Amino acid sequence: MAKSRVITVLSQKGGAGKSTLTMQLAGGLARSGRRVAIIDLDPQETALRWAQAATEGFPAQVSKLDVLPGGLRAVLKQMARSADIVLLDCPPSIEHPATLAALQEADVALVPVVPSPADLWSTKGVERLILQVQASRKGLKAALVPNRVLRTNLAWDVLEVMRDFTLPVLGAALSQRNAFAQSAVIGGTVYQLGRAGSEAAREVDKLVAEVLKLTGEKL
Ligand SMILES: Nc1ncnc2c1ncn2[C@@H]1O[C@H](COP(=O)(O)OP(=O)(O)O)[C@@H](O)[C@H]1O
Ligand SMILES: [Mg+2]
Repeated sequence: MAKSRVITVLSQKGGAGKSTLTMQLAGGLARSGRRVAIIDLDPQETALRWAQAATEGFPAQVSKLDVLPGGLRAVLKQMARSADIVLLDCPPSIEHPATLAALQEADVALVPVVPSPADLWSTKGVERLILQVQASRKGLKAALVPNRVLRTNLAWDVLEVMRDFTLPVLGAALSQRNAFAQSAVIGGTVYQLGRAGSEAAREVDKLVAEVLKLTGEKL
């Protein structure tokens, strides 16, 4: 049985956009025809509640897990049958055992980063951890994903503040947009917001394409 692709979304700080990125990516990947599952590893259960708030149903199966680390591997093995891609939404700490376990299982690690000084500093630690894991597991792909980018900032501004990192910065970024916050309220994704979500949806489409490239798959 082929293994699902595992995408781990992690960061040191809360509020960086892990759950937002996880849920939107799930929506975009599901639209591309993949069977998507999310495992909520954060005791705050944001992803789980997000999907539970969905009136139209969420496009990915969301479950929570607090038996680690052997439990995660066992659950992923089981999911290989039902999911092409599994997204792991991590707690806001790189010391948390769930984050470490999720990174060990990842094919791709994504780190949402708000281009502000505090977020950039805290990202240094995440990067160190990922580079450490990559040293022994060359197959692990990782990238930083700019989030809450102000549209008044030109793209090169973001790159300028993020150039001190060793990990690549994805070209696809998420802007600061009401649609992203609004999608949590409806328990869905920006794809369900109609015209109000169309620009956000285009950003997620671009993100999906880049993430699939990292997993080595075709769109
Ligand atoms: N690109 C964005 N535009 C607007 N609001 C955002 C964006 N990304 C995240 N948010 C909001 O910021 C808050 C924290 O995001 P969340 O995804 O829960 O972060 P984390 O999971 O890293 O703690 C939420 O209220 C979310 O709606
Ligand atoms: Mg979260």
